[in-house]
Amino acid sequence: MTEELIVTTVGGVMEIRFNRPEKKNALTRAMYDGVVAAFDAAESDPAIRVMLLTGTGDTFTSGNDIKDFQQRAATANASAASPFLVALSTLKKPLVAAVNGAAIGVGTTMLAHCDLIVAARSARFVMPFTRLGLVPEAGSSLLFPQLLGHQRASAMLLLGDALDAEAALAAGFVYQVVDDAELMTAARAVAGRLAALPPEAIRQTKHLMRRGQPDLPDRISEELELFRARVASPEAAEAFAAFMEKRAPDFSRFS
Ligand code: COA
Repeated sequence: MTEELIVTTVGGVMEIRFNRPEKKNALTRAMYDGVVAAFDAAESDPAIRVMLLTGTGDTFTSGNDIKDFQQRAATANASAASPFLVALSTLKKPLVAAVNGAAIGVGTTMLAHCDLIVAARSARFVMPFTRLGLVPEAGSSLLFPQLLGHQRASAMLLLGDALDAEAALAAGFVYQVVDDAELMTAARAVAGRLAALPPEAIRQTKHLMRRGQPDLPDRISEELELFRARVASPEAAEAFAAFMEKRAPDFSRFS
């Protein structure tokens, strides 16, 4: 495990913390692998009842590391996120998120797989895939129109519009919005309530609620296949270079 991911367990709750604040908790391959290992450990340990995801600093996570994207485009490696997305979307135990600030890209799409989301007032949900020359992932092209309605999902997935914490609460996307200073207390209280309930009843209820998405595994695979090709596309190369060079991208030459 890397120190860019901190995993601690207290009272039946495994807390998994993205801990790369100097890069706004951008997710590297090692971090994805670390989360998958933590999920596996939690799922197989009867003493762990609930998992809780959060981030250090002012950002939940800024999504996939864009430098990683640039390097992988050259070698067309399989997506580092792929095993993470499969593990995330098939968890049997409940997953709570404490969203401390911006949740960008996979930072927001992963939340569609969380059972209860507590957001700090500073939370902001953004899926800027098209602006990066990419397509959505984590089943978000299927889940977000259902969760938010087609118009709001189009605004987020096509235009890259942000949803703030209050709008997310009004849309039913998050369970609670609390002051930033109260975030971990509130999220741990929710996780603690879940941890005290009968675990098999909780797992079965989660399964019943989640199995209404029989198309989800196929959608996640289809999105990933497109995503891998997009990461290597000239449109994405321009978007990644613009981000790293801190300039506006220019897509005018593409048809
Ligand atoms: N991948 C790689 N590096 C990232 C990153 C990412 N997803 N997000 C932030 N960083 C890096 C920045 O390059 C910067 O590095 P530097 O200090 O070496 O220049 C550092 O983290 C701080 O980010 P900065 O942009 O200066 O902070 P900010 O407070 O002005 O903005 C964000 C924060 C998160 C809004 C902004 O960094 C951002 O938009 N990040 C990209 C989000 C994104 O498009 N993710 C991909 C989704 S698929």
